[in-house]
Amino acid sequence: MNIVSKIDAWQAIRKACAGKTIGFVPTMGHLHAGHLSLCERSRRENEITVVSIFVNPTQFNQASDFDLYPRTLEQDTAILASQQVDYLLLPDAESLYPDHYQIQLTETEMSRELEGEYRPGHFNGMLTVVLKLLNLVQPARAYFGEKDYQQLLLVKKMAAALFLPVDIVPCETIRAEDGLALSSRNSRLNTEQRQKAAHFPQLLQSHQPVEHIAEQLKALGFKVDYIVEKWQRRLGAVWLDDVRLIDNISIHK
Ligand code: PAF
Repeated sequence: MNIVSKIDAWQAIRKACAGKTIGFVPTMGHLHAGHLSLCERSRRENEITVVSIFVNPTQFNQASDFDLYPRTLEQDTAILASQQVDYLLLPDAESLYPDHYQIQLTETEMSRELEGEYRPGHFNGMLTVVLKLLNLVQPARAYFGEKDYQQLLLVKKMAAALFLPVDIVPCETIRAEDGLALSSRNSRLNTEQRQKAAHFPQLLQSHQPVEHIAEQLKALGFKVDYIVEKWQRRLGAVWLDDVRLIDNISIHK
């Protein structure tokens, strides 16, 4: 696996890859089986697989969340190398934001609700960095987990609106045995919180009205941001103390 930190070095490599299909998996690191399933799919469907690790400061609406975001680069690099990933991109914030984030991409509808309501500015930052990364990597396909369902819809919407020549591929959420969706943030849960966290997907999957689900989660000690049905999914966001969890399931009938 080639590790590339400099943007101009990557651009030279990208030129040399002309004519090959590239699959791209953008990440913020602290990789888990969910990320690896995206890499595996990319490997199956493309000649070259590129993964990026960049903890994007502009999509964190709280400085503490950015500071506490787990960074495990050494471990991530070893995992990706064993997954036969071809290129690992590790850009830094100065090179990705030569404009100091004065140029931003804004979506004015979907990005304002649910996650957008509770995390103002999050989707501007996410869309802006994803656009930058897609422009740099120029993949045929880019892989996004369904766990961040609103993110996936917004990236698809951006790709369509800006005529980006990329196929945005949705990938199923990977779960732990007790149903908890894998997420880099799960490692911030202590043992007791981790046990309690399993109630979240279990209740989300139960055949009950969303109001009942929210009440039961509150009774168990969760703080509930929202539990709603939309886009043929049931989506939720909750807090266990200072750790925020999001999840969604298909309710397609
Ligand atoms: O889902 C994530 O990890 C991030 O939002 C992404 C897509 C890598 C952009 O920073």
